[in-house]
Formats: sequence, structure tokens, C-alpha cells
Amino acid sequence: VWEKLTEAPEDAILGVTVAYNKDPNPVKLNLGVGAYRTDEGKPLVLEVVRQAEARLVADRSRYKEYLPIVGLAAFNKLSKELAFGADHPAVVANRITTVQGLSGTGSLRVGAEFMGQHYHTPIIYVPVPTWGNHNKIFPKAGLKVQSYRYYDPATRGLNFTGMMEDLKAAPDGAIILLHVCAHNPTGVDPLPEQWDAIRQLIRAKGQFPFFDSAYQGFASGDLDADAYALRSFAADGGELALAQSYAKNMGLYGERVGALSMVCATAAAAKLVEGQLKLVIRPMYSSPPLHGAAIVATVLSEEKLLHDWKAELKGMADRIIEMRHKLYDALLQRGTPGDWTHILKQIGMFTFTGLTKPQVDFMREKYHVYMTGDGRISMAGLSTATVPHLVNAIDDAVRN
Ligand code: LMR
Repeated sequence: VWEKLTEAPEDAILGVTVAYNKDPNPVKLNLGVGAYRTDEGKPLVLEVVRQAEARLVADRSRYKEYLPIVGLAAFNKLSKELAFGADHPAVVANRITTVQGLSGTGSLRVGAEFMGQHYHTPIIYVPVPTWGNHNKIFPKAGLKVQSYRYYDPATRGLNFTGMMEDLKAAPDGAIILLHVCAHNPTGVDPLPEQWDAIRQLIRAKGQFPFFDSAYQGFASGDLDADAYALRSFAADGGELALAQSYAKNMGLYGERVGALSMVCATAAAAKLVEGQLKLVIRPMYSSPPLHGAAIVATVLSEEKLLHDWKAELKGMADRIIEMRHKLYDALLQRGTPGDWTHILKQIGMFTFTGLTKPQVDFMREKYHVYMTGDGRISMAGLSTATVPHLVNAIDDAVRN
């Protein structure tokens, strides 16, 4: 029955790893997927995660029972407080309903389904460019996807004027997708005063902000500083949606642990929203998995573990920033043509190099360096030992 199916393409990001894994050349370097590596090039399990897991395993009173449809209550509460701050007026007033989700993607998908079913203007505006999966998640939930200008290739920075013009021209009431920090794939974030102007415009137009937070703590190493945009939107009393992921900041990639929060106008509305979210989740996957949420709840609820997590998080953020400097210095030393200052300026896991698709292909062919087709490299996949190889590849590509 399936012979006539068309052959599906590999995913634009995860497919890079598929190609990398097939490459037998020992010098190969995977800068495709955004997954943290140590300076030895190894995946990292955070020490606090190991400790939390050890405690969970040792506790004989724990069962493997189903979680409620909305997930682990302690996890939801702590996730909300991590994102918004425990003393945030919206948290204190019980105006936020938070449900556990399957990492960032699953939380976005549940939020999108809910919006598709219940929101009056099912059109979502996403930045150009944005994380590739956004463009796939939202239409599946019945939302019409439109775009707003965001990245300026000329400056390799924010096209603030273009962004404001496009948001102004977007319909009143439209949903606006925003990256809380460390914009993926560009590493370009608005400044705080730009965020304030964006917020005022979105609120004036009665638009609905939908935040994606995959990198809290990963941008600056400071969980509160990285939540600036989100918290300012939540502080103005207006409504919003937030999808959180613990893949990067707690290194829980495979656990698929995240959360969806809906900030509502009243506590009563938040209750109604929770009820409807349950109707979305139950036929989709019934209830979320327990293990990752229990790890996160353990880390976030104990002062010592929380303190140690912040230190480990800062360590990861700092190593990435160090890699930015190493790569920039090495390109400068080599005299590689072009302005590479954006490597230092961009924020978070990725550098949007400005390398063209033919250059990306050339580097894969000749140097076995793997990145996404748009020229995004994961700085977290780079190490002191592999910087020279990458510089050789970039230098050859831009001179070719
Ligand atoms: C990425 O952008 O590389 C990560 O968010 C992983 C993914 O799922 O695409």
C-alpha cells in the first residue's frame, strides 16, 4: 500500500546529524543541532541532574503511576516561578495556568492547538528567520503563518525598523511569536528599550504574544536577566502564552520536559483555560512523562541544587562565549576576508555566520564540517581543539 508514497526529506536541523553520523571521516565536526558539548566535545549530563536522579532512584516510596493530564504539580509551579519570578503579580494573583509539555516543541504544539481552537484571530506572525520547526508546528494546529522582518543580513543584527513596521501592519489581535532570548537561529535579540517599544506596539494593537523560551539562563548565564522580555510583557497586565524547554538549560534533551503557561486576565479565566488545555492534551498523548519533570522539580525545589544548577548553567554559557572569542580571534589572525564581529555580538547557542548555502555545502564536502543550510553554527558544538579546523574551512570557503 505504501509504494506510491513520496520520499520524505530529512529535517533541516535533525537531518544534519543523520548526515554527520553517516560520514566516516574522523575529522568531521557537527555544528548543526543545538546541543551542548564540553570542551572535550562530549555531551554533558549536569552534576545536579545526576544528583537529582540518584535521589529519585533511591526513594523507594516513589511509584511509576500516571501523572495527571496537566503533569506534575510541583514541576508546573516551579516552572512558572522560574519563568516569571515567584513574586510576579500574575503568579501571586493565580492568573497563570501552567501545564507540563513535551519539551519546547510539545508545549508549543499544545499552545498552538488551544489557540487554533479558541482564539478569535488564528493567524500567527513569526520572525524571519525563525527556528524551522515553528513553521511546521503552527499550521498543523490550524494557525495561518505569516512573517515579520527580524534579521538584517547587512548588519547581521536586528532590523528593528522593519520589525516595527511589519507588526504595525499586522492585523489587530494577531498572534505574535517572540523568542524570549538567544533568538534561534540568528543569536540576535532586541535591546531592553527595543523590547519596551515592541511591547507597547503589540499591546496597542491588541495582539497576542506567544513566547518561546528555549534558552533561559543560556544567553547570559543569568536566569532572571534572560527573562526580561517575558516578565515585562507579563507585568503590564496583558495576556500571553509561553512555551518553556529544559532541553538546553538543564541538558535534558531526551527527557522531553517543558511547560506551557497561559497568562490570563483573571484567575477564573486561567481555570477555564486549564480545563480546555486538558481537552487538547488527553487525546494527543494522554499525560506527560514523569521522569524529566521529577528531575527538574527536585533541582528547582532545593536551594543547594538550585544554586549549583545556576553555577553549571553559567559555566555552559561562559564556555560558549569563550568559543565566540576563540573563533573570532582565530579568523582575525588568519586574515579571513570579511567582518566577523557578529560572532562576538550574537547571543546564545548559535552564530548566524552569513555563510551562503554553496559555502556551507563546500565546507561539508571538503572539510566534513556540518551546519544547517542557512549558515547557522552551534557554538556549543565547538571546542578549543576544533576551532582551527573550522577556521580552515571558513577561510577556504570565503576565498573560493
Ligand atoms: C536546534 O535548533 O538545533 C534545536 O532546537 C534542536 C531542534 O529540535 O531543532
